[in-house]
Amino acid sequence: MQTIVTQSVGVAATWINRGEIVAFPTETVYGLGADITSDAAIEKIYAAKGRPPDNPLIVHIHSLHQLQEVASDIPRSAESLIHHFFPGPLTVILNKNPEVSQLVTAGLPTVGIRLPAHPVAQEFLRRCTHPVAAPSANISGRPSSTDWKAVYDDLKGKIPCVLKGPQSTIGLESTIVDCSVHPPRLLRSGAISLESLRNVVPQIRAGSSNEKTHSPKSPGLKYPHYSPSAQIILCEEGYPPIERETNSAWIGISQQPEGIAKTAICKNPEEYAFRLFSFFRECDREGISVIFCEMPPADGIGLAIRDRLQRAAERNDK
Ligand code: TXA
Ligand code: MG
Repeated sequence: MQTIVTQSVGVAATWINRGEIVAFPTETVYGLGADITSDAAIEKIYAAKGRPPDNPLIVHIHSLHQLQEVASDIPRSAESLIHHFFPGPLTVILNKNPEVSQLVTAGLPTVGIRLPAHPVAQEFLRRCTHPVAAPSANISGRPSSTDWKAVYDDLKGKIPCVLKGPQSTIGLESTIVDCSVHPPRLLRSGAISLESLRNVVPQIRAGSSNEKTHSPKSPGLKYPHYSPSAQIILCEEGYPPIERETNSAWIGISQQPEGIAKTAICKNPEEYAFRLFSFFRECDREGISVIFCEMPPADGIGLAIRDRLQRAAERNDK
């Protein structure tokens, strides 16, 4: 299959409305979208990514008017979160509208919903006839794509169209809050921190880490994720890497350690998040075998970075 790269939201939306799948930019990471009313199109997403069939997709909307097409009831906690954080890097889990296909939600009675803030994403979604289900636009298990070239590297020949936009400004996937339970629960950390969520809905519970392995509430959390081919070695703040190999790289916030040629020194946690996945991919292209990753402080977006780093490193243990 030929993969076209376009900057036209109209062209990209036409593919969606014809039952095809399209990668598109958002402020978190690029998504791989399909019309939620087309089971055939949704199946193409799973096939192109090699995604396990029990891992549900997030539905993307362009305005709050589309909520009723996707969700069946909206509890007060969700209303407050939506009011404060939509559009933006937040996904809320709600009971689904019975019309929403089981393929979108992988058989769950709930559905994840997000309204991206990115103007290109919004314009694209406005031109799509129905809401658009979209996981991150990467081969399953690989780092999420934060620019169109990463999408193209992973999915060329497997999807007909990439909507080209700028690099995703946040660089990590959305914060996910399950509002179908009481009290609501944080399922995935992201740019919107637990502290800011609790400023709006104080009773939100943090997710528990052992649920990664024991039937997690968010099915995707049990799969390996975010992994480059290189081995990931985590370094707590201030600790230099223990062993250095010639073919290694370093990403972190503090000073560059000696003896490592390829480094990404970030000014703050926000820049770390922005650069992380593209650095992983760059290291793979350059044949780096070990990436040392400094663990950022465990607050704000630092918690989301730590979560992604820990899961990227887990694959090494297998
Ligand atoms: O920022 C993002 O969220 C990006 C952009 C494209 O919107 N999307 C994204 O999708 O990261 P994906 O599929 O890579 O991650 C979605 C996560 C998965 O772990 C999935 O299991 C979980 O959301 N999820 C989706 N629907 C769910 C539901 N109904 N209940 C619990 N977890 C759900
Ligand atoms: Mg993903």
